[in-house]
Amino acid sequence: MAVANSLKYLILSTSPRIGGNSDTAARYVETLLKAKGDGVFLNTSRKKINPCLGCNLCSRDGRCVQKDDMAEIYELLPQINYLVIASPIYAMGLCAQAKAIIDRLQPYWAQKYLLKQSEMQQKRRKGLYLLTAGTNFNTVFTGAEITLKYLNNVLEVEEFRIVGFKNLEEKGEIKKDPNNFNRILEAINQMGVS
Ligand SMILES: Cc1cc2nc3c(=O)[nH]c(=O)nc-3n(C[C@H](O)[C@H](O)[C@H](O)COP(=O)(O)O)c2cc1C
Repeated sequence: MAVANSLKYLILSTSPRIGGNSDTAARYVETLLKAKGDGVFLNTSRKKINPCLGCNLCSRDGRCVQKDDMAEIYELLPQINYLVIASPIYAMGLCAQAKAIIDRLQPYWAQKYLLKQSEMQQKRRKGLYLLTAGTNFNTVFTGAEITLKYLNNVLEVEEFRIVGFKNLEEKGEIKKDPNNFNRILEAINQMGVS
């Protein structure tokens, strides 16, 4: 029998460094979520996702006029109830690939705040955001956190966790400390899955 609120996830691994720290964290999340539901994992840096054009045409009908690989994300987002975004910290913020996707979610902002009817409102959503940084600066995640909290409003993410990993400069360094994976597991367990 199908479970009404079964887990449907989308994992956006945005780093251009495939097999790097944030991608490894995202793959680990996939292994955990796969056991609990259905979903899609995308290495978005290998997709053609243009930046927002600022044309504001999405204000008319809540749709983006650009034709590129965002189509796949636009199709999946309204269906899912668990969103995972993994991004390295670049220049004290999200990487450009992650930011481009978030900017391209402006149609959902338009749906919610201008058109007063968002397709995202049909589902309750949880968010798990994984950030990896080379330094251990106190404020290294602050910029990304502000953007991700904004995103929660637009995508109707009701509950979320941001798990940040500092001092990870080299590719795959995240694997050296098992506690890194424990922190991800803990965040997932704290939120539950549906
Ligand atoms: C263009 C670029 C900018 C970066 N900027 C920062 C930064 O501002 N602060 C920081 O702590 N690390 C910075 N880093 C280091 C990365 O955040 C770090 O290596 C991270 O673990 C990379 O994750 P990834 O392996 O998933 O790509 C930068 C790396 C690159 C390539």
